[in-house]
Amino acid sequence: MSTTSAASSKGFFIVLEGIDGSGKTTMAKKLIEKLNSMGYKTMYTFEPTDSEIVEVIKAKYNEYRDPYIDALTFALDRLIHVKTRIKPLLDKGFIVISDRYFYSSVAYQTASGAPMDWVIELNKWALKPDLAIYLDVEPEIALKRKVAVSSRFPEFERIELMEKVRSIYLDMVKRGLLVMVDASRNIDEVYRDVENFVLSRISSRPIS
Ligand code: TMP
Repeated sequence: MSTTSAASSKGFFIVLEGIDGSGKTTMAKKLIEKLNSMGYKTMYTFEPTDSEIVEVIKAKYNEYRDPYIDALTFALDRLIHVKTRIKPLLDKGFIVISDRYFYSSVAYQTASGAPMDWVIELNKWALKPDLAIYLDVEPEIALKRKVAVSSRFPEFERIELMEKVRSIYLDMVKRGLLVMVDASRNIDEVYRDVENFVLSRISSRPIS
């Protein structure tokens, strides 16, 4: 999908994906703890970032938002995120874990009506991660989990949209773009699989 790869950096770039309530943030925090305890330098980050780019669109142009404007906004936010934060940390040998990345644009903006090829093209220059994990869960379960947590983007938390988003994620898994973990199980079981993926990939490509 993208032409530049994080594999040429000293560090290791991991992405966690899934619908809201799939447990990405919990998994990221547990992974960070584990990797820190093993002596790795780590950094947790997320998209959309809290940069002004997304805030301006939400604050000033919210009523005009559509999947095209969102795809462009998130793609710009992403390229700046990579340049200012992710790539410099990878070059210093960090393991960077991003809670969402361009797979979210492919899944959400395509599910909302933008053409998939165009969303992919827009994100062509975003650094390719070393490992991208998709946490699969049914929208009904995910929404129940999210009840207690306030959301930055409640507009994306509609069951019909989440069903479409999930099927696009599953399609990306079939195409080999993401590896899948069954996230409908309890936290410890899900985490065990996530950790196994990460540790096996890191050991096959030692980072400095
Ligand atoms: P979160 O901050 O709770 O993860 O919510 C982010 C929301 O933004 C989530 O519903 C998915 C959506 N999103 C997109 O639609 N496209 C994107 O490219 C990204 C990164 C997120």
